[in-house]
Amino acid sequence: MSNRMWGGRFESAPDAIMEEINASIGFDSKLAPQDIAGSLAHLAMLEARSIVSPADAAAIRDGLAAIRGEIEKGDFPFERSLEDIHMNIEAALASRIGPAEGRLHTARSRNDQVAVDFRLWVRDTADALGKQVAVLQRALAEKALAHAGDVMPGFTHLQSAQPVTLGHHLMAYVEMLGRDRSRFADARARMNECPLGAAALAGTSFPIDRHMTAAALGFDRPTANSLDSVSDRDFALEALAAAAICATHLSRFAEEIVLWATPQFGFAALSDRFSTGSSIMPQKRNPDAAELVRGKTGRVVGALIGLLTVMKGLPLAYSKDMQEDKEGTFDALQTLSLCLAAMTGMVADLRPDTGRMARSAGAGFATATDLADYLVREIGLPFRDAHHVTGRLVALAAGRGVGLEDLSLEEMRGIEPRLTQAVFAVLGVENSVASRTSYGGTAPANVRAQAQAWLDRLRDEV
Ligand code: ARG
Repeated sequence: MSNRMWGGRFESAPDAIMEEINASIGFDSKLAPQDIAGSLAHLAMLEARSIVSPADAAAIRDGLAAIRGEIEKGDFPFERSLEDIHMNIEAALASRIGPAEGRLHTARSRNDQVAVDFRLWVRDTADALGKQVAVLQRALAEKALAHAGDVMPGFTHLQSAQPVTLGHHLMAYVEMLGRDRSRFADARARMNECPLGAAALAGTSFPIDRHMTAAALGFDRPTANSLDSVSDRDFALEALAAAAICATHLSRFAEEIVLWATPQFGFAALSDRFSTGSSIMPQKRNPDAAELVRGKTGRVVGALIGLLTVMKGLPLAYSKDMQEDKEGTFDALQTLSLCLAAMTGMVADLRPDTGRMARSAGAGFATATDLADYLVREIGLPFRDAHHVTGRLVALAAGRGVGLEDLSLEEMRGIEPRLTQAVFAVLGVENSVASRTSYGGTAPANVRAQAQAWLDRLRDEV
């Protein structure tokens, strides 16, 4: 039997492998709610424009409502021979209400139908992701406020560089996530145009009202060019790009949790709720959730690259290649949602060992820059000379296997005679972080103010 929806000029059914490669119902059944919402908006417009009679419109509306109920209950018999979600729903509607069903597809095509369904899904999912990012920001800012004054080593090249506070470190991620949220919001603003009514590619001769359908589906306006409407997937690409960047941020923090949870670092522990054991090594506590957040980033980035690659050679307008837009996008955005939830749980669960962090903060001559700054400020050396003098003091301490603060004033004066007892104040890590009061710096007062400002902002948003 040829296909009822398009089989007019066909005599026989497709080859089994043709059906298999062609069908998308295995994954696009997820778009059923959007497909029905799009059909209802289209139908209301066709009726308002007297393209479909009130009686036919009523029958179609009731039929769609019944199908929606069946799908929600899990009773709907999706069929691969009907290819995709659009034709599955249409066929079900036809068997319920008879020939009136055929009027629903006036002035539209599956090309604008899938474009609108997918856009609705991506838009609503991006909105939900933005909210989840805000929830994670709040968890981080709360933790940061609690640890605004706790000192830890700041790293460059993963070598101890200068002391910072744990609160400052956590707030760095709050900033990154704030930009992630604004990327989702920017993408949303651009994608929120309705392609419905572009029909197959050229528009339609029916007197449709695209502004009406756009408004009914919560879009800001209809898309302005029918070819563009059915042939671009940049809205999904932008959402995937925002997701890939966000996942990359989560992955970096996940990597830090993995490092911090090692016995060698010992900066923080996760409770049993977020750790797993080893089946052979009884002593192990593994941070699997953090590793998986890091690992799953690969899938999110992969989906972006995958869809860019699908799109890059396509001539206008629709080509079936574009059916490959969905699985990766669904997977990537759902994966990010899971990662955000897991990360939010881990942040709340994370128990920093502030004593150990503070001891480590002083190691590795982490206050050498403070010493150099002191030489500039108090003794009036040019910074380059101060750097050199400090380097000699570090070499002296390193040679003796002690910290800078363990050198005697005499020993220090052997290198720079103008030094006084006051130098010891700048060698302490607490003093070091407290002195970093420049805007955006790590001074606890700054961190407290930043964390509080974010919590105030987030209060209205989550
Ligand atoms: N299942 C298709 C997709 O996801 C729907 C559009 C099909 N259009 C067509 N002309 N064959 O892209």
